[in-house]
Amino acid sequence: MGLERLKKVRASFAADLAAAGSDPDAVETLRVAYAGRKSGLLQDLTAALRELPNEAKRDYGQALNELKKFVEDGLKQAKERAAASAGSSSVGQIDVTLPGRALPRGAEHPVHLVRRRIEEIFLRMGYDVESGPEIEDDWHNFEALNIPPDHPARDDQDTFYVGSNLLRTHTSPVQARVMERTQPPIRIVVPGRVYRRDSDLRHSPMFHQLEGLVVDEGITVGNLKATLETFLHALFSDDVQVRLRPGYFPFTEPSAEVDISCIFCDMKGCGVCSGSGWIEILGSGMVDPRVFEAVGIDPERYTGFAFGLGLDRVAMLQYGIPDLRQLFAGDQRLTRQFE
Ligand code: FA5
Ligand code: MG
Repeated sequence: MGLERLKKVRASFAADLAAAGSDPDAVETLRVAYAGRKSGLLQDLTAALRELPNEAKRDYGQALNELKKFVEDGLKQAKERAAASAGSSSVGQIDVTLPGRALPRGAEHPVHLVRRRIEEIFLRMGYDVESGPEIEDDWHNFEALNIPPDHPARDDQDTFYVGSNLLRTHTSPVQARVMERTQPPIRIVVPGRVYRRDSDLRHSPMFHQLEGLVVDEGITVGNLKATLETFLHALFSDDVQVRLRPGYFPFTEPSAEVDISCIFCDMKGCGVCSGSGWIEILGSGMVDPRVFEAVGIDPERYTGFAFGLGLDRVAMLQYGIPDLRQLFAGDQRLTRQFE
Protein backbone atom coordinates (compact mmCIF):
# COMPACT_ATOMS: atom_id res chain seq x y z
CA MET A 1 0.00 0.00 0.00
CA GLY A 2 2.96 2.28 0.60
CA LEU A 3 4.07 1.98 -3.00
CA GLU A 4 0.59 2.89 -4.21
CA ARG A 5 0.74 6.10 -2.32
CA LEU A 6 4.13 6.99 -3.78
CA LYS A 7 2.75 6.55 -7.26
CA LYS A 8 -0.19 8.83 -6.55
CA VAL A 9 2.04 11.50 -5.16
CA ARG A 10 4.28 11.29 -8.18
CA ALA A 11 1.30 11.76 -10.50
CA SER A 12 -0.12 14.66 -8.56
CA PHE A 13 3.27 16.37 -8.44
CA ALA A 14 3.63 16.07 -12.20
CA ALA A 15 0.20 17.63 -12.67
CA ASP A 16 0.80 20.43 -10.19
CA LEU A 17 4.18 21.15 -11.77
CA ALA A 18 2.65 21.55 -15.19
CA ALA A 19 -0.03 23.83 -13.75
CA ALA A 20 2.55 26.03 -12.01
CA GLY A 21 4.28 26.69 -15.34
CA SER A 22 6.92 29.42 -14.94
CA ASP A 23 5.14 31.44 -12.29
CA PRO A 24 7.74 31.86 -9.52
CA ASP A 25 5.14 32.14 -6.73
CA ALA A 26 3.33 28.99 -7.84
CA VAL A 27 6.63 27.09 -8.08
CA GLU A 28 7.53 28.16 -4.57
CA THR A 29 4.12 27.07 -3.22
CA LEU A 30 4.70 23.74 -4.86
CA ARG A 31 8.15 23.41 -3.32
CA VAL A 32 6.75 24.05 0.14
CA ALA A 33 3.89 21.56 -0.33
CA TYR A 34 6.11 18.72 -1.52
CA ALA A 35 9.66 19.34 -0.37
CA GLY A 36 9.11 21.76 2.54
CA ARG A 37 11.25 20.85 5.55
CA LYS A 38 8.53 21.15 8.15
CA SER A 39 5.36 19.73 6.61
CA GLY A 40 6.13 18.76 3.01
CA LEU A 41 4.60 15.57 1.64
CA LEU A 42 7.99 13.95 1.14
CA GLN A 43 8.66 14.43 4.82
CA ASP A 44 5.45 12.53 5.67
CA LEU A 45 6.33 9.77 3.26
CA THR A 46 9.75 9.42 4.82
CA ALA A 47 8.22 9.19 8.28
CA ALA A 48 5.85 6.47 7.02
CA LEU A 49 8.85 4.27 6.22
CA ARG A 50 9.31 3.53 9.89
CA GLU A 51 5.78 2.11 10.26
CA LEU A 52 6.25 -0.48 7.52
CA PRO A 53 7.02 -4.14 8.21
CA ASN A 54 10.70 -4.89 7.69
CA GLU A 55 10.30 -6.88 4.48
CA ALA A 56 8.52 -3.94 2.78
CA LYS A 57 11.07 -1.33 3.76
CA ARG A 58 13.61 -1.95 1.03
CA ASP A 59 11.30 -1.53 -1.97
CA TYR A 60 9.50 1.40 -0.40
CA GLY A 61 12.79 3.13 0.40
CA GLN A 62 14.05 2.73 -3.14
CA ALA A 63 10.83 4.07 -4.66
CA LEU A 64 10.81 6.94 -2.21
CA ASN A 65 14.34 7.93 -3.23
CA GLU A 66 13.31 7.92 -6.85
CA LEU A 67 10.32 10.09 -6.07
CA LYS A 68 12.50 12.53 -4.16
CA LYS A 69 14.82 12.85 -7.10
CA PHE A 70 11.87 13.34 -9.44
CA VAL A 71 10.47 16.13 -7.29
CA GLU A 72 13.88 17.74 -6.89
CA ASP A 73 14.60 17.76 -10.61
CA GLY A 74 11.13 18.99 -11.45
CA LEU A 75 11.40 21.89 -8.99
CA LYS A 76 14.87 22.76 -10.20
CA GLN A 77 13.77 23.00 -13.81
CA ALA A 78 10.67 24.96 -12.90
CA LYS A 79 12.78 27.43 -10.96
CA GLU A 80 15.11 27.91 -13.88
CA ARG A 81 12.17 28.51 -16.18
CA ALA A 82 10.72 31.02 -13.76
CA ALA A 83 14.03 32.88 -13.50
CA ALA A 84 14.50 32.91 -17.27
CA SER A 85 11.05 34.28 -17.98
CA ALA A 86 11.43 36.93 -15.29
CA GLY A 87 14.69 38.02 -16.95
CA SER A 88 13.30 38.21 -20.44
CA SER A 89 10.25 40.25 -19.59
CA SER A 90 11.60 42.49 -16.82
CA VAL A 91 12.93 45.14 -19.19
CA GLY A 92 9.40 45.93 -20.25
CA GLN A 93 8.28 45.94 -16.61
CA ILE A 94 10.65 48.52 -15.16
CA ASP A 95 8.65 51.28 -13.58
CA VAL A 96 10.75 54.37 -14.15
CA THR A 97 8.58 56.38 -11.77
CA LEU A 98 9.63 54.31 -8.73
CA PRO A 99 11.94 56.17 -6.33
CA GLY A 100 15.58 55.00 -6.28
CA ARG A 101 16.91 52.80 -3.51
CA ALA A 102 18.18 54.84 -0.58
CA LEU A 103 21.88 54.41 0.22
CA PRO A 104 22.64 53.56 3.84
CA ARG A 105 23.39 56.80 5.59
CA GLY A 106 25.89 57.30 8.40
CA ALA A 107 25.28 59.43 11.48
CA GLU A 108 27.26 62.34 12.78
CA HIS A 109 29.32 61.38 15.82
CA PRO A 110 28.04 62.96 19.06
CA VAL A 111 31.42 64.61 19.70
CA HIS A 112 31.30 66.14 16.25
CA LEU A 113 27.78 67.44 16.87
CA VAL A 114 28.96 69.08 20.08
CA ARG A 115 32.01 70.53 18.37
CA ARG A 116 29.91 72.13 15.64
CA ARG A 117 27.43 73.58 18.11
CA ILE A 118 30.23 75.12 20.15
CA GLU A 119 31.99 76.48 17.08
CA GLU A 120 28.74 78.13 16.05
CA ILE A 121 28.36 79.81 19.43
CA PHE A 122 31.88 81.26 19.22
CA LEU A 123 31.61 82.22 15.56
CA ARG A 124 28.57 84.28 16.53
CA MET A 125 30.73 85.98 19.16
CA GLY A 126 33.29 86.90 16.50
CA TYR A 127 35.92 84.19 17.02
CA ASP A 128 37.89 82.42 14.26
CA VAL A 129 38.38 78.64 14.15
CA GLU A 130 42.04 77.54 14.09
CA SER A 131 43.86 74.20 14.05
CA GLY A 132 47.31 72.72 14.64
CA PRO A 133 49.23 69.42 14.37
CA GLU A 134 48.42 66.38 16.54
CA ILE A 135 52.06 65.30 16.50
CA GLU A 136 53.65 68.19 18.34
CA ASP A 137 57.11 69.21 19.49
CA ASP A 138 58.12 69.67 23.08
CA TRP A 139 58.45 73.43 22.62
CA HIS A 140 54.84 74.10 21.67
CA ASN A 141 53.24 71.45 23.90
CA PHE A 142 55.29 72.31 26.99
CA GLU A 143 58.17 74.82 26.97
CA ALA A 144 56.47 77.78 25.31
CA LEU A 145 53.61 77.23 27.78
CA ASN A 146 55.95 77.74 30.72
CA ILE A 147 56.36 73.99 31.40
CA PRO A 148 60.14 73.34 31.51
CA PRO A 149 61.49 69.74 31.26
CA ASP A 150 61.39 68.89 34.97
CA HIS A 151 58.15 70.72 35.76
CA PRO A 152 55.75 68.56 37.81
CA ALA A 153 52.82 69.61 35.57
CA ARG A 154 54.18 67.14 33.00
CA ASP A 155 53.10 64.32 35.32
CA ASP A 156 49.45 65.43 35.08
CA GLN A 157 49.50 64.84 31.38
CA ASP A 158 51.07 61.43 30.92
CA THR A 159 52.49 61.76 27.46
CA PHE A 160 52.75 59.43 24.46
CA TYR A 161 56.05 60.09 22.71
CA VAL A 162 56.69 59.70 18.97
CA GLY A 163 60.46 59.66 18.54
CA SER A 164 61.65 63.06 19.71
CA ASN A 165 58.14 64.49 19.24
CA LEU A 166 54.93 63.69 21.10
CA LEU A 167 51.18 63.38 20.68
CA ARG A 168 49.86 66.67 21.95
CA THR A 169 48.39 66.31 25.43
CA HIS A 170 46.12 69.33 25.04
CA THR A 171 45.09 71.90 22.42
CA SER A 172 47.08 74.66 24.18
CA PRO A 173 50.13 74.28 21.86
CA VAL A 174 47.98 75.85 19.15
CA GLN A 175 47.79 78.99 21.32
CA ALA A 176 51.58 79.21 21.10
CA ARG A 177 51.62 78.55 17.35
CA VAL A 178 49.00 81.20 16.61
CA MET A 179 50.66 83.81 18.84
CA GLU A 180 54.05 83.15 17.20
CA ARG A 181 52.66 84.05 13.79
CA THR A 182 50.00 86.67 14.63
CA GLN A 183 49.96 89.90 16.61
CA PRO A 184 46.87 90.85 18.66
CA PRO A 185 43.98 91.29 18.54
CA ILE A 186 43.51 87.50 18.60
CA ARG A 187 40.20 85.79 19.17
CA ILE A 188 40.20 82.07 18.31
CA VAL A 189 38.81 78.66 19.21
CA VAL A 190 40.73 75.48 18.36
CA PRO A 191 38.96 72.12 18.40
CA GLY A 192 41.02 68.95 18.08
CA ARG A 193 42.14 65.53 19.22
CA VAL A 194 44.49 65.17 22.15
CA TYR A 195 46.15 62.16 23.79
CA ARG A 196 47.01 61.07 27.32
CA ARG A 197 47.74 57.81 29.08
CA ASP A 198 44.48 57.88 30.96
CA SER A 199 41.45 55.57 30.97
CA ASP A 200 38.33 55.36 33.17
CA LEU A 201 34.64 56.43 33.11
CA ARG A 202 35.57 60.07 32.45
CA HIS A 203 38.98 59.64 30.81
CA SER A 204 39.89 58.21 27.44
CA PRO A 205 43.46 57.94 26.02
CA MET A 206 42.30 59.89 22.96
CA PHE A 207 39.83 62.65 23.56
CA HIS A 208 38.85 66.08 22.27
CA GLN A 209 39.41 69.56 23.55
CA LEU A 210 38.41 72.96 22.37
CA GLU A 211 40.86 75.72 23.16
CA GLY A 212 39.87 79.35 23.38
CA LEU A 213 42.25 82.30 23.28
CA VAL A 214 41.61 86.03 23.41
CA VAL A 215 44.49 88.54 23.42
CA ASP A 216 44.13 92.29 23.17
CA GLU A 217 44.74 95.47 25.10
CA GLY A 218 42.76 95.66 28.33
CA ILE A 219 41.42 92.09 28.56
CA THR A 220 40.51 91.25 32.18
CA VAL A 221 39.33 88.39 34.38
CA GLY A 222 35.88 89.96 34.08
CA ASN A 223 35.95 89.29 30.33
CA LEU A 224 36.95 85.68 30.97
CA LYS A 225 34.16 85.08 33.45
CA ALA A 226 31.51 86.78 31.33
CA THR A 227 32.58 84.88 28.23
CA LEU A 228 32.49 81.48 29.93
CA GLU A 229 29.13 82.16 31.53
CA THR A 230 27.58 83.35 28.28
CA PHE A 231 29.02 80.37 26.48
CA LEU A 232 27.95 77.74 29.04
CA HIS A 233 24.43 79.10 29.25
CA ALA A 234 24.14 79.08 25.46
CA LEU A 235 25.49 75.53 25.32
CA PHE A 236 23.53 73.96 28.16
CA SER A 237 20.62 75.78 29.71
CA ASP A 238 20.13 78.17 32.55
CA ASP A 239 19.20 75.16 34.70
CA VAL A 240 22.74 73.79 34.59
CA GLN A 241 24.84 75.08 37.45
CA VAL A 242 28.31 76.41 36.76
CA ARG A 243 31.09 76.55 39.35
CA LEU A 244 34.51 78.20 39.09
CA ARG A 245 37.21 76.69 41.31
CA PRO A 246 40.65 78.16 41.80
CA GLY A 247 43.03 76.05 39.75
CA TYR A 248 46.59 75.88 38.59
CA PHE A 249 48.03 75.85 35.08
CA PRO A 250 51.63 76.88 34.36
CA PHE A 251 50.51 78.96 31.37
CA THR A 252 47.78 80.98 33.10
CA GLU A 253 47.75 83.19 36.18
CA PRO A 254 45.34 83.31 37.89
CA SER A 255 43.72 80.02 36.82
CA ALA A 256 40.28 78.51 37.34
CA GLU A 257 38.78 75.11 36.73
CA VAL A 258 35.13 75.11 35.76
CA ASP A 259 32.64 72.41 36.75
CA ILE A 260 29.02 71.94 35.84
CA SER A 261 26.38 70.08 37.82
CA CYS A 262 26.22 66.31 37.20
CA ILE A 263 23.10 65.46 35.23
CA PHE A 264 23.41 61.72 35.88
CA CYS A 265 22.50 61.94 39.56
CA ASP A 266 20.98 65.40 39.78
CA MET A 267 23.93 66.31 42.02
CA LYS A 268 23.22 63.54 44.54
CA GLY A 269 26.59 61.96 43.80
CA CYS A 270 27.24 58.98 41.50
CA GLY A 271 30.02 56.99 39.84
CA VAL A 272 30.30 59.42 36.96
CA CYS A 273 30.97 62.45 39.18
CA SER A 274 32.82 60.39 41.83
CA GLY A 275 30.14 61.26 44.34
CA SER A 276 30.79 65.00 44.17
CA GLY A 277 27.76 66.12 42.15
CA TRP A 278 30.04 68.11 39.80
CA ILE A 279 31.85 67.28 36.57
CA GLU A 280 34.92 69.21 35.51
CA ILE A 281 34.62 70.37 31.93
CA LEU A 282 37.19 73.07 31.42
CA GLY A 283 40.35 74.74 32.62
CA SER A 284 40.95 78.46 32.15
CA GLY A 285 42.88 81.51 33.22
CA MET A 286 44.64 84.74 32.26
CA VAL A 287 47.55 84.15 29.87
CA ASP A 288 50.81 84.13 31.90
CA PRO A 289 53.17 86.96 30.82
CA ARG A 290 55.93 84.35 30.42
CA VAL A 291 53.95 82.73 27.63
CA PHE A 292 53.70 86.10 25.86
CA GLU A 293 57.47 86.48 26.17
CA ALA A 294 58.08 83.00 24.76
CA VAL A 295 56.01 83.66 21.65
CA GLY A 296 57.01 87.28 21.01
CA ILE A 297 54.02 89.29 22.23
CA ASP A 298 54.60 92.35 24.41
CA PRO A 299 53.28 91.52 27.92
CA GLU A 300 53.40 95.20 28.91
CA ARG A 301 50.92 96.08 26.25
CA TYR A 302 48.68 93.03 25.98
CA THR A 303 46.71 90.77 28.28
CA GLY A 304 44.52 87.81 27.45
CA PHE A 305 42.56 84.83 28.65
CA ALA A 306 42.48 81.21 27.56
CA PHE A 307 40.45 78.11 28.26
CA GLY A 308 40.47 74.43 27.34
CA LEU A 309 37.21 72.49 27.27
CA GLY A 310 36.70 68.70 27.17
CA LEU A 311 34.35 68.15 24.21
CA ASP A 312 33.75 64.49 25.10
CA ARG A 313 32.65 65.46 28.58
CA VAL A 314 30.13 67.83 27.07
CA ALA A 315 28.84 65.05 24.78
CA MET A 316 28.51 62.73 27.80
CA LEU A 317 26.46 65.29 29.64
CA GLN A 318 24.30 66.34 26.73
CA TYR A 319 23.42 62.84 25.59
CA GLY A 320 23.54 61.01 28.92
CA ILE A 321 26.42 58.68 28.03
CA PRO A 322 27.72 57.32 31.35
CA ASP A 323 31.08 55.93 30.13
CA LEU A 324 33.14 58.28 27.99
CA ARG A 325 35.00 55.38 26.37
CA GLN A 326 31.73 54.21 24.75
CA LEU A 327 32.08 57.19 22.44
CA PHE A 328 35.13 55.60 20.81
CA ALA A 329 34.25 51.90 20.96
CA GLY A 330 33.08 52.02 17.33
CA ASP A 331 29.67 50.54 18.17
CA GLN A 332 27.20 51.80 15.57
CA ARG A 333 24.26 51.12 17.89
CA LEU A 334 25.45 54.18 19.80
CA THR A 335 26.18 56.48 16.88
CA ARG A 336 23.01 55.52 14.94
CA GLN A 337 20.96 57.13 17.67
CA PHE A 338 22.21 60.48 16.43
CA GLU A 339 21.02 60.17 12.80
C1 FA5 B 1 44.29 71.37 30.09
O1 FA5 B 1 44.45 70.46 29.26
C2 FA5 B 1 44.63 72.78 29.81
N1 FA5 B 1 45.38 72.86 28.57
C3 FA5 B 1 43.35 73.60 29.74
C4 FA5 B 1 43.60 75.06 29.73
C5 FA5 B 1 43.66 75.75 28.53
C6 FA5 B 1 43.78 75.77 30.92
C7 FA5 B 1 43.90 77.12 28.52
C8 FA5 B 1 44.01 77.11 30.91
C9 FA5 B 1 44.08 77.78 29.72
P1 FA5 B 1 43.11 69.79 31.81
O2 FA5 B 1 44.16 68.75 31.85
O3 FA5 B 1 42.40 70.07 33.09
O4 FA5 B 1 43.65 71.17 31.30
O5 FA5 B 1 42.02 69.36 30.72
C10 FA5 B 1 40.99 70.23 30.32
C11 FA5 B 1 39.67 69.47 30.17
O6 FA5 B 1 39.84 68.34 29.32
C12 FA5 B 1 39.17 68.88 31.47
O7 FA5 B 1 38.42 69.83 32.15
C13 FA5 B 1 38.32 67.72 31.01
O8 FA5 B 1 37.04 68.18 30.62
C14 FA5 B 1 39.01 67.26 29.77
N2 FA5 B 1 39.86 66.07 29.98
C15 FA5 B 1 41.05 65.98 30.58
N3 FA5 B 1 41.55 64.73 30.53
C16 FA5 B 1 40.63 63.99 29.86
C17 FA5 B 1 40.56 62.63 29.42
N4 FA5 B 1 41.55 61.75 29.62
N5 FA5 B 1 39.46 62.22 28.75
C18 FA5 B 1 38.47 63.09 28.50
N6 FA5 B 1 38.47 64.38 28.85
C19 FA5 B 1 39.54 64.84 29.52
MG1 MG C 1 42.40 68.98 35.14
